Amino acid sequence: MRHDTIAVVDFGGQYAHLIATKVRRHNVLAEIRQPEDPLEDFMGCRGIILSGSPSLASQGEDSGYNKAIYDLPIPILGFCFGHQEIAKHYGGSVRHGKQEWGRARMTIVREHPLFAGLEREQQVWMSHFDSVDGIGPDFTELGYSVLDAGGDEHRFAAIASDKLRRYGFQYHPEVDDTTHGDDMIGNFVLNICECNPTWTMDNYVDEQIAAIRERVGDGSVFLLASGGVDSTVAAVLFGKALEPARLSLLHVDNGLMRKGESAKVLESFNRMGLGENLHFIDASEDFLRDMAGMVEPEEKRRAIGTTFVTVFEKEARRLGIEGHLLGQGTIYPDTIETGGTKRADTIKTHHNRVPVIEEMIQAGKVIEPLSDLYKVEVRELGEKLGIPRDMIWRHPFPGPGLGVRLLCSTGDGNDDGLAEMTPELNRIVGEFGLAASPLPLKSVGVKADLRSYEHPVLLTGKADWDTLDTASGAVLKSVTGINRSLWWLGEGTPTSFRPLAATMTRDRLDLLREADALMMEGLRRHGLYQEIWQCPTVLVPLEVDGKGAELCILRPIHSERAMTATAARLPLALVAELQEQIQALPGISGVAYDLTSKPPGTIEWE
Ligand code: XMP
Repeated sequence: MRHDTIAVVDFGGQYAHLIATKVRRHNVLAEIRQPEDPLEDFMGCRGIILSGSPSLASQGEDSGYNKAIYDLPIPILGFCFGHQEIAKHYGGSVRHGKQEWGRARMTIVREHPLFAGLEREQQVWMSHFDSVDGIGPDFTELGYSVLDAGGDEHRFAAIASDKLRRYGFQYHPEVDDTTHGDDMIGNFVLNICECNPTWTMDNYVDEQIAAIRERVGDGSVFLLASGGVDSTVAAVLFGKALEPARLSLLHVDNGLMRKGESAKVLESFNRMGLGENLHFIDASEDFLRDMAGMVEPEEKRRAIGTTFVTVFEKEARRLGIEGHLLGQGTIYPDTIETGGTKRADTIKTHHNRVPVIEEMIQAGKVIEPLSDLYKVEVRELGEKLGIPRDMIWRHPFPGPGLGVRLLCSTGDGNDDGLAEMTPELNRIVGEFGLAASPLPLKSVGVKADLRSYEHPVLLTGKADWDTLDTASGAVLKSVTGINRSLWWLGEGTPTSFRPLAATMTRDRLDLLREADALMMEGLRRHGLYQEIWQCPTVLVPLEVDGKGAELCILRPIHSERAMTATAARLPLALVAELQEQIQALPGISGVAYDLTSKPPGTIEWE
């Protein structure tokens, strides 16, 4: 079935994904497009939404997007930057300086199908430096707004030209603070673009099954089944589409799994009736050998991805499987964050997007039935397929596993410029009764949609969560070279930090497995496992005050789509238990709690 589609133009930031998921909630397919995409990529769409952007419309910062889209006879709706671009294109004007942040009350001054079913007064969310201060002859004002915090009336908060079928909202209907933003998006998609709401999970299952059968034909699929949500859902979907002889699953113990994980995965696949297709190999030696001596995160990631392929090909030969397609549970954000779209910087190379896999994709040897879906949709699909809830609602676990949670180092420092930063850091956090030490190591983060590789700062002292959050925010906002903040959970204020030479070894991985198992048990003991979206436990080779060799970091987070995240606030009783249990493991120099949101940190440390 061909689905009516809305193209969402990604002008930067994470907005576009949020908009796409909100459109999809109305059972209409939304696909991300890049501003410079050719006109053909928009043809056949029922409507276009222009996202917000960090760029300024008032300064002409439109990165040369394809304005030929305005010639298409389909409705176009813009949010914030998109709204300003539409106003400008049709003879209106945009000025810089009327910035507004936060909640505002919009008064709708003219009835319009975009606001069908809604009250005249609406709570909306503003976040902008620029605003529209004049509209072209074909446009009318649909609403004006006033910030809850007070201030002048903001004219042209919503505008429309029914003749041209062009519309704009200064506010962000895609964020939850615009109370009825979902309804407004639904009104655009269903009433104005007249999309048929056929993008449902039931249809998706049927279509994918048909597509898999057609693509596989007389061949077969060989899938790496890690036991994570995505590959499990993919495995079950393949299992529904293909007769057993055409599907082989391989579970690889890469030595980077959680404690006891492989045994659990094998048992679950047996329970789900896929045992007949399942093969297992302990390849931990291969992975350790291929990562030997590496310290650089991207190099490790590439090595892990490449070894997966080598192990997989070797096993295929051993099992006599030929002419197969490589099955992967890749989901939509995986392709974006590896630089899969033209605008996205390579923040991290995902294991299923390493060069050798990219080559296989080009050669038509890879099949990825979930590559259009966001995580929430994968879980919905999993429920539809009858996969047990405990498999679907487990925390996401990255393909490279503990490989990206065990930091390595040459031991020679990374302490350039740290001494100069220290007074400034202490001046900032001193106001909150805390002390700060920048740490001589680096981790990956994301700033203004670009990869960063910078130092964490360790905050010490007693404070409540609100204070820690504010102090952490203040530091991350203003000190260059810092992309994470940690809270020291031990007694006193440590004063000396010495990076140690360390690479990927089985002993270090075993230690991390123990710490991670304590963390997971703690969450379950306190009934918090489901409340937390994900919780990496990380080891960094850092000696603190001359004791131990590994600093352990706890990173419980809340997130919806992994594109953004906030640090979760665990009960202090649990934090104290974890500190004590982990500190007692051999070789641990201390335990710290990651307070960083994403951005500027990423969820994982590498
Ligand atoms: P970051 O660290 O980029 O992670 O904020 C976002 C989400 O992606 C997961 N992640 C991965 N998943 N292969 C995966 O399948 C990978 O290479 C990979 N790297 C990160 C991470 O755990 C988080 O849920």
